[in-house]
Amino acid sequence: MAFVRAAKVDAVAPGSIAEFQVGGKAVAVANVGGKFFALNGVCIHEGGPVGEGALNGNVVICPWHAWEYDVTNGKIVGSPDGAEGLACYPVEVREGDIYVDVG
Ligand code: FES
Repeated sequence: MAFVRAAKVDAVAPGSIAEFQVGGKAVAVANVGGKFFALNGVCIHEGGPVGEGALNGNVVICPWHAWEYDVTNGKIVGSPDGAEGLACYPVEVREGDIYVDVG
């Protein structure tokens, strides 16, 4: 697929995360110190809305049962092998808009 506009840059302030529909998928977009990261917004535990969680540094906490994901790579924090996690998507910022390629 290709990059699809997700939101205005202003919609995701530094230190925050939000959920957007991109290409028919729920995508969580996080702003870590001005750098944007996008990942699948559906928690692998029971489908909670990751994009509605709290962002603490580069870690988002799922609002349903507090599973923690590193938004820079989608991995579950503390996972023994680091293998499990959420898909991450490429992000580009163009003229004040955030674009995500959900593949
Ligand atoms: S659904 Fe995310 S922690 Fe349970």
